[in-house]
Amino acid sequence: MRRAVTSEVPALATAAEYFFKVGAEGKRMRPTVLLLMASALTNEPGDVRRRQQRLAEITELIHVASLLHDDVLDHAATRRGLRALNLEVGNKLAILAGDFLLARASVTLASLRNTEVIALLSRVLEHLVTGEVMQMTAKADRLTSFDHYFQKTYFKTASLIANSAKAIVLLGGHDVTTAESAYQYGRHLGLAFQFQDDVLDFTGTGSVLGKPTLGDLREGIATAPVLFAAEEHEGLGALIERRFKNVGDVETAHDWVKRSKGIERTKALAREHSAEAVRAIESLPPIDCPHAMRCRKGLKELAYMAVNRIK
Ligand code: FPP
Ligand code: MG
Ligand code: MG
Repeated sequence: MRRAVTSEVPALATAAEYFFKVGAEGKRMRPTVLLLMASALTNEPGDVRRRQQRLAEITELIHVASLLHDDVLDHAATRRGLRALNLEVGNKLAILAGDFLLARASVTLASLRNTEVIALLSRVLEHLVTGEVMQMTAKADRLTSFDHYFQKTYFKTASLIANSAKAIVLLGGHDVTTAESAYQYGRHLGLAFQFQDDVLDFTGTGSVLGKPTLGDLREGIATAPVLFAAEEHEGLGALIERRFKNVGDVETAHDWVKRSKGIERTKALAREHSAEAVRAIESLPPIDCPHAMRCRKGLKELAYMAVNRIK
């Protein structure tokens, strides 16, 4: 991965390598999931496996690119416990570094010479941008809609891991039913992960998360805990619709969420999707290979960890 982000131009190299340095790599959740998925279906080494590893790299490159752009849009100061890249090198270079990572991802993607896989990952880019713009531009009446929130969450968070999981299975030469199970695993895992993220934005600790809490409210975004709370507290709707922009709105909304079942209901929703992810692993075709079975167990444990984590 570090080789994939090098550049001859010093400023570009510094910016592009920033989140690939030792200590800045984050949880590496996506490549872990994808390589476990590959190994859950076969223990064949060689060329197929190398192509699958490349796919895992592409997914992480796309993820980090989206974070670089996201931190510019959000005026973020911290990421992964470090200063955000936009703060370090400015918005212009941070955006261009994101573009550069996408370009490197595209070159690697093309080298796989599999048009279906190229189409899947290209569709993911479309989803990331669409989700971000939906969040940014939603009219007042859409902001209180759970469907809108759910669709946006799929686009922004679940689509990347779902379609990458499908792609890595197709690269392994497995059938479409197996690829569909992998897609469903990624989709439910991504949704569960994000719902837990939305909980942690209310219940977490800034120093543990590596980013400040209540960030969503401060950015004007109503996530599941708030949408559920709004079903109990009528006044919350108006705050959501004006994106918590009046003085005291963030604190009032926070207070209402705490006094509602919003957090609890979001945790329950996350657990439902975590359980669906486990079911998707159980629907994979039987395999007589202890290593593959251990990888399936690992994927199930990740589904459990996604909803039981504190960071
Ligand atoms: C994090 O969201 C952001 C994303 C998951 C996707 C952002 C997508 C874009 C900026 C569109 C451009 C896409 C590409 C591929 C360059 P967040 O702000 O809710 O989460 P955070 O708390 O981690 O900042
Ligand atoms: Mg952000
Ligand atoms: Mg954002």
